[in-house]
Amino acid sequence: MSTVFRPGFASPSIAFANRGSFCVASRAVVRQQHSTSVETRVNENNFERIYVQNGIAAEAKPLVVERIDKDENIREVVSVREESDIEKEAWKLLNDAVVRYCGSPVGTVAANDPGDKTPLNYDQVFIRDFVPSALAFLLRGEGEIVRNFLLHTLQLQSWEKTVDCYSPGQGLMPASFKVRTVSLDGDKTEEVLDPDFGESAIGRVALWTLGLWWIILLRAYGKITGDYTLQERVDVQTGIKLVLNLCLADGFDMFPSLLVTDGSCMIDRRMGIHGHPLEIQALFYSSLRCGREMLTVTDGSKNLVRAINNRLSALSFHIREYYWVDMKKMNEIYRYKTEEYSLDATNKFNIYPEQIPLWLMDWIPEEGGYLIGNLQPAHMDFRFFTLGNLWSVISSLSTPKQNEAILNLIEGKWNDIVGHMPLKICYPALENEEWRIITGSDPKNTAWSYHNGGSWPTLLWQFTLACIKMGRIDLARKAVSMAESKLGADRWPEYYDTRTGKFIGKQARLYQTWTIAGFLTSKVLLENPEKASLLFWEEDYELLEMCVCALSKTGRKKCSRVAAKSQILV
Ligand code: GLC
Repeated sequence: MSTVFRPGFASPSIAFANRGSFCVASRAVVRQQHSTSVETRVNENNFERIYVQNGIAAEAKPLVVERIDKDENIREVVSVREESDIEKEAWKLLNDAVVRYCGSPVGTVAANDPGDKTPLNYDQVFIRDFVPSALAFLLRGEGEIVRNFLLHTLQLQSWEKTVDCYSPGQGLMPASFKVRTVSLDGDKTEEVLDPDFGESAIGRVALWTLGLWWIILLRAYGKITGDYTLQERVDVQTGIKLVLNLCLADGFDMFPSLLVTDGSCMIDRRMGIHGHPLEIQALFYSSLRCGREMLTVTDGSKNLVRAINNRLSALSFHIREYYWVDMKKMNEIYRYKTEEYSLDATNKFNIYPEQIPLWLMDWIPEEGGYLIGNLQPAHMDFRFFTLGNLWSVISSLSTPKQNEAILNLIEGKWNDIVGHMPLKICYPALENEEWRIITGSDPKNTAWSYHNGGSWPTLLWQFTLACIKMGRIDLARKAVSMAESKLGADRWPEYYDTRTGKFIGKQARLYQTWTIAGFLTSKVLLENPEKASLLFWEEDYELLEMCVCALSKTGRKKCSRVAAKSQILV
């Protein structure tokens, strides 16, 4: 166990007053010292030697702690390099972004720009945005804020939600919440947590990914802190079930992928991603894997666990088989026959080859491939969406070979996907008439800006995680050092504009918390790659063995999954 990042926690006791207005009385938390301060301890059995190692990183003097066991040889060498000024600034800004509720930390604001007089809702705690902050805190050994956040958002999940008198299903998590001070009788005031389920959000967007992020963070909390009591709590187990039941509920759909409206993920404005966008599928798959790990199997949960297993298996087959494109697949699509009416059609979704965009013909490299953005009848959205592809690698939604190919593609198309600032949210941008029709002439989403091909530094931590998983630390280092050389001087923007991410985004907030936290999380992961393995998943062979396709049993047709498995298993 490392000297510096060792987590230690005392569980806060939670007391709830009325609905949505509750206070946390937390007992003292054992905070860990930060990586700049290195403690030398000597005891009977072991001692730690600290010395400055030369020549590892140019920008800072790395300290290395060797833990030496008296009876054995060196057991562990932990890098505790001295932080650069930019990292010190980032930690300070992250701490300054912390939001307190009844005296306890519960999250971080989305952006904290002192010069911004119209922060809209950026002064709120966004569930999705808090994830990199939470990881930075957890990796530094601070669990209290994450635990509080998980428990408070869980309470908000059961809030009665209405949009124009309509109540969406149980299990939704809010997009964001704000701590408000309300006046009581006399001079007294009370703090309340005020959630936004989309009823105030710009465009009234639906919020699919937030429950998924909540589950992913819950698992990360257990893995990093070793405190599994939180996920075992009855209310937390109920929270997991509510989110997953909502996602697994039967609908009108024929596909195992989730059907959602436009703007229901990180891209929360109209960008033509309604249907079955990859980002949602990758986060859905990840949270199903989390659920599979965390749910206590009882008589009450065994049906849900069975449904999770079936869905995992069907979803991974669907995405691996139908979302994948590389040179070979492109050539197949190019020669597709259409209007095939039969069970064994090759062109199952009746894709007309004419829809292959011109840019893609020259763009797709010989080496590498990627998962397309969306798939519907007669529609393949060939845009490359970074978050979905990265989460497919991280969660093993894609095969080991596909994972490698995705990183090869990013490396091969570095100028397009990384350019001057990692990483582009999607490639390419919608332009001209396409932009007008698909975005509804959205001035924030003009070509190569914001969601429409803008570059988002917060994607860096997920890229770092995917690279570490696939043994491509070189790529992650290159991206992180590029970000490090600019982010501080540019005042931590939310996003960058232009085809290569050269300029600070037109309407980008400054001091954006997930930019800061994403950078810090990437730095800590690069220095402690063993921690990264707590956050990703390897291929699950048991799932691949599971064939949920009933066709084979009816004798109508041999299950195509069995035939496909030989190509999938590596
Ligand atoms: C923007 C992003 C969204 C993020 C929010 C707060 O709306 O599209 O993903 O959660 O800002 O930073």
